[in-house]
Amino acid sequence: MVSPTDSPTAPAQRSGGRRPLNRYLLAVGLMIMLAGFLFGYDQGVISGALDGIQKTFRISSLMLEVITSWVTLGAMAGALAAGALADRLGRRATILLAAGTFVVGALVEALAPGSLVLVLGRLIVGAGVGVASVAAPLYGSEVAPARLRGRYVALYQMAITIGIFLAYFADYLLISSDRWRVMLGISAIPAFLLVLVAWPLKDTPRWYVKRGRRADAEGVLRKTEPELDIDGALDAIGQAVAADSRSATWLQVFARQWRKPLLAAAALAVLQQLTGINAIIYYADKIFEAAGFQSPTSQSLATLWAVGGVNVVATLVAVLWVDRFGRKPLLLIGSAGMFVSLLVVGGAFFQIDSVSAAQRAAHGTTDAGILALVGLVAFIASFAFSLGPVVWIMINEIFPGPVRARGVAFATAVNWLAAFVVAEFYLSMVSLITTAGTFLLFAGFCAVTFCYVRWFLPETKGKSLEEVQTMWSDPEALHEAVTGRG
Ligand code: BGC
Repeated sequence: MVSPTDSPTAPAQRSGGRRPLNRYLLAVGLMIMLAGFLFGYDQGVISGALDGIQKTFRISSLMLEVITSWVTLGAMAGALAAGALADRLGRRATILLAAGTFVVGALVEALAPGSLVLVLGRLIVGAGVGVASVAAPLYGSEVAPARLRGRYVALYQMAITIGIFLAYFADYLLISSDRWRVMLGISAIPAFLLVLVAWPLKDTPRWYVKRGRRADAEGVLRKTEPELDIDGALDAIGQAVAADSRSATWLQVFARQWRKPLLAAAALAVLQQLTGINAIIYYADKIFEAAGFQSPTSQSLATLWAVGGVNVVATLVAVLWVDRFGRKPLLLIGSAGMFVSLLVVGGAFFQIDSVSAAQRAAHGTTDAGILALVGLVAFIASFAFSLGPVVWIMINEIFPGPVRARGVAFATAVNWLAAFVVAEFYLSMVSLITTAGTFLLFAGFCAVTFCYVRWFLPETKGKSLEEVQTMWSDPEALHEAVTGRG
């Protein structure tokens, strides 16, 4: 993803004024949303499928963790490969490749005769999601006019949450019959839709110019912005592309010169995951079961609304606020809210854990169970208007030009790696230090996030990419952006 201001054609576009969206731009928006939707559906769907999978294959909890989490390993590899693929094959072809991979993976999952093939399917699906998670926002940000670019990034996160919600809905509809194969296989449909939407689209003007295909670039610009000074825009893209030939190698990305933005992006990517969001997204049904929701249907219903629904609504709040209030205030309020809610969830589980499973089954939902539910809702809401979208926005705006593509791919891969660690070890952590202990650990990472944002992270709201770039090498400007004092 690239920031709203990162456009070689921005000046010409700004003078173009406001115009309604044309069909081509709507199709681009739809494509980005379908890619985000796939990401989200895949994050969410496993929560309701675990029970059925366990019944079918009778596997250990370690194997269940592998089935849950290896999708993120595939995604990490996919994200790392995506930058090079998008440069070589083009952004559009890379998205088609991701969608095709996803269809294959979903079918392998749905038809898996045993748990190992299921794991293979999860890896393939993950690779598709990982490639799409870099290529689709990149495509959108290079095609969208500057005035729409921020909204396209927000749309992407919004689509992730809608994907999670609909996955929970599918879980809810199918849970009583344990039809986990349908739950997993059904995601081939949006992947197929993604192919249909992406097929007639062209590649991005920037990619065409890079390939020396100026006429194709012109064709796209005429579709997206007919009133633009096309020659001027093409020259601007040409200059930007020429400057990009300074693009750093992987080794240079890690050079001292770029260390500050790299560390900031990696810190945000890791903390977004270590504060526990996906433990809840993936294992929501199991958490609600432990909290006293007895039937699979009641667990699934709690997950659908308390996690899925709240996530969508609170993300909408971020879409409206992020440009007005800035990144840091949202991150600070959000991480503080997450910290307090996790203390509540931890406290509730301290009470719940002290009662045996048999006693819990006899009593059903208790006050402590309700308290855990309330805490989880508050946690999801706090995450959804802060770390959820803002981390992606910042990762895409803090890298200087030459390292942007690889920097973003690196941070995205680090995010998937951290998601993997959480998903892989969540159940083991619960048996080691109890559910209460695990949530308190997540709370600890929320405190770390708060401190990091408060004392180390610069504000980027309202800054052009050039200003962000010079800020990193100007200690005074950096200090001002971190402290908010000018
Ligand atoms: C995170 C995902 C998470 C989702 C939840 C995204 O920003 O990167 O890992 O599942 O938010 O809404």
